[in-house]
Amino acid sequence: MSHSYSDGRTLNDSPNTTFEQILETRLSRRGLLKGAVALAVAGSLPLSVAGCATGLRREGGLGFRGIAVSTADAVRVPEGYAANVLYAWGDPVGHPSGSPAFRPDAGNTADDQALQAGMHHDGIHYFPLPYGSDNSANGLLVMNHEYTDDGLLHADGFANWSADKVRKAQNAHGCSVIEVRAAGGKWEVVRPSRYARRVTARTPLRISGPAAGSAGMKTAADPAGTTVLGTFNNCAHGFTPWGTYLTCEENWDTYFTSSGTLMPDQKRNGVSPKGRGYRWDEFDERFDAGRHPHEPNRHGWVVEFDPYDPQSQPVKRTALGRFSHEGAWSATARDGRLVVYLGDDRRFEYIYKFISRDAWNRVDRNANRNLLDHGTLYVARFHDDGNGEWLPLVHGQGKLTREYGFADQADVLIRTRAAADAVGATKMDRPEWIAVHPASHEVYCTLTNNSQRGTKDKAGIDRANPRANNVFGQIIRWREAGDDPAGMKFAWDLFAIAGDPQHPDTARRGNIKGDAYGSPDGLWFDDSGLLWIQTDVSASTLNKNHYERLGNNQMLAADIRTGETRRFLTGPNGCEVTGVVMTPDARTMFVNIQHPGESPQGRNDPLQPKAHSAWPDGSSGGRPRSATVVIRRNDGGIIGT
Ligand code: FEO
Ligand code: CA
Ligand code: CA
Ligand code: CA
Repeated sequence: MSHSYSDGRTLNDSPNTTFEQILETRLSRRGLLKGAVALAVAGSLPLSVAGCATGLRREGGLGFRGIAVSTADAVRVPEGYAANVLYAWGDPVGHPSGSPAFRPDAGNTADDQALQAGMHHDGIHYFPLPYGSDNSANGLLVMNHEYTDDGLLHADGFANWSADKVRKAQNAHGCSVIEVRAAGGKWEVVRPSRYARRVTARTPLRISGPAAGSAGMKTAADPAGTTVLGTFNNCAHGFTPWGTYLTCEENWDTYFTSSGTLMPDQKRNGVSPKGRGYRWDEFDERFDAGRHPHEPNRHGWVVEFDPYDPQSQPVKRTALGRFSHEGAWSATARDGRLVVYLGDDRRFEYIYKFISRDAWNRVDRNANRNLLDHGTLYVARFHDDGNGEWLPLVHGQGKLTREYGFADQADVLIRTRAAADAVGATKMDRPEWIAVHPASHEVYCTLTNNSQRGTKDKAGIDRANPRANNVFGQIIRWREAGDDPAGMKFAWDLFAIAGDPQHPDTARRGNIKGDAYGSPDGLWFDDSGLLWIQTDVSASTLNKNHYERLGNNQMLAADIRTGETRRFLTGPNGCEVTGVVMTPDARTMFVNIQHPGESPQGRNDPLQPKAHSAWPDGSSGGRPRSATVVIRRNDGGIIGT
């Protein structure tokens, strides 16, 4: 059987044989460095092979006792640790204008929802107060609320669908900024707080960067193409070294319908004429792409805002491209420019990085206000020999010209996926989170799964995406040339192939050293270099035979020096574990539990809201709620070690 590489070459091999080969010859740490040395010799690149233990803020290692898989409707953590709910959907954000209490019967109004936690917590970051300090007892937690389950959001679900229900759904999207503080290790939300705010799918945002004001961004409501209402489907996140938050618009296409003919770019991005069930278009006509063909172009971006200034207007940074943005993770280049790594979470989509034109200013944070508006976007190509390169998406270069249908740089950025297709980037198995090692700058990226890899008319396997019908995913990593995040070439290998070691199908077993998991999604390095891995095996996949051995979704920690992975947390039924950060002293960890009780059928039945989970309120509650959980060691020690 013949399998195509993403660049059209074919590999005469069966998927199983290739998988075995990958397992056998999987590049170990030594293998990666050998590859890097080979790259250095071949391309005369000054690659450093220095160890990564130096330069860390603190030393660490796996110091907790790993826990068993679980199918309990609870959050479980290791012996000696405690996990407590801090901030669940519907809890008041603490805005000075009011703190409406959550109603377990989902009876809160749209106006209440605008002052409460949104649904489906995702990416999260802790900003110490004041800015520039390393205060570990008072700070701002900023997080995303990815999407809504309208079966849980309204007491009667989609029945009697109305403008108010659309407004409530829109207000349950976006971001929260909450002030949190601790006394004696006990954390609470500060209410009221002058910092508390919600950004929603109705908040006016500025559009900036090369695509702002361009023809493709203009609509009837915004003829200038510079202001847009809202951000939604904010999945993971990022932050800048100058203390702003980055929130990333992922599955924006699912909110649109079209009463007209889909434009090619709408098709390329997955817009469906009938929509995906949010029904916003019925009372907010800009979500009908047939009537407002440019409105979709105004979503799918990275948004930056300053949590320290509650009046600051969030800004869509078009220089970072438009696709299903998972998150935006930054690193500083040797010359001081900011590098932002970006994943496009869709089957067969790409990994990108943005490099700013200018170095960021370490003294004056205001000088960085528009830094993300100028720079170059690159997309990754992973060669089968373990090397890779970054391909620029610059109008006028290669096929990114008028002759090939790209009008200008704004057009290249609005149609980022088409531009990446044109330069021949490598089609990946759903890039999710990216984590940059705090000392070595080695980059890790979760590729969560891709059930269509190797199927008819789809890309076949390659070395970076080595399994056909890839259910459990893998974690890829690379080291940039010269260990400089701004490098144009890199050496890569697979850190781990996820799976169930007892699976009857050898291709589903993976090669995890230690505790097994499937579908890695959230990924984060703490200051000691421990790699935290969060999983998102879907409810429908979990329900199938042979998958329940992995239990509910979970979080693990890996010591990349040994490759050992240990299970640290298991979540309640039907949840995804996504979003993790610690205070600077590493004695408090915040973890988000998303969609407890997710229904394998999709949205929940409003008549049986607790059918799949009652977490976190249990029998006293009305329905499951996504929530931020605080994790502490009982002895107040450093988490993980
Ligand atoms: Fe919202 Fe790709 O996870
Ligand atoms: Ca995710
Ligand atoms: Ca996922
Ligand atoms: Ca999810």
